[in-house]
Amino acid sequence: MGFKLTRCVLTLGVHLSFGHGIHYCIGAALAKLEVRLALEELAQHYPSLHLEPGQIITPAPNFMLRAYQEMVLVIDESPTQQSTKSI
Ligand code: HEM
Repeated sequence: MGFKLTRCVLTLGVHLSFGHGIHYCIGAALAKLEVRLALEELAQHYPSLHLEPGQIITPAPNFMLRAYQEMVLVIDESPTQQSTKSI
């Protein structure tokens, strides 16, 4: 199954957590670091990135995991030129 940005997590029937217990994902720390760096870069490229005003952020119906059904972000302008650096 390929990555689909517009996917609906609820219809996929899979979750995106790192598991638990003895088989807890050994790459969780690396994955979290990668996501943090990616989000920092995104925010640097798009300083106007913000939550869509007025949206109601609804939790996904799952008592085990914290997730949201949808969270809309808005970008008002084209990317800045400054952050072309590589990490
Ligand atoms: C967002 C990224 C990732 C997600 C959502 C994820 C998710 C998971 C989950 C749910 C499990 C548990 C599977 C089970 O219980 O059978 C797992 C196990 C594992 N993951 Fe990840 N993972 C991610 C990234 C990575 C990365 C970056 C690495 C390695 C560099 C990695 C290596 C492993 C390994 C080796 C296991 C098996 C651990 C064991 O069975 O003891 N994962 N992962």
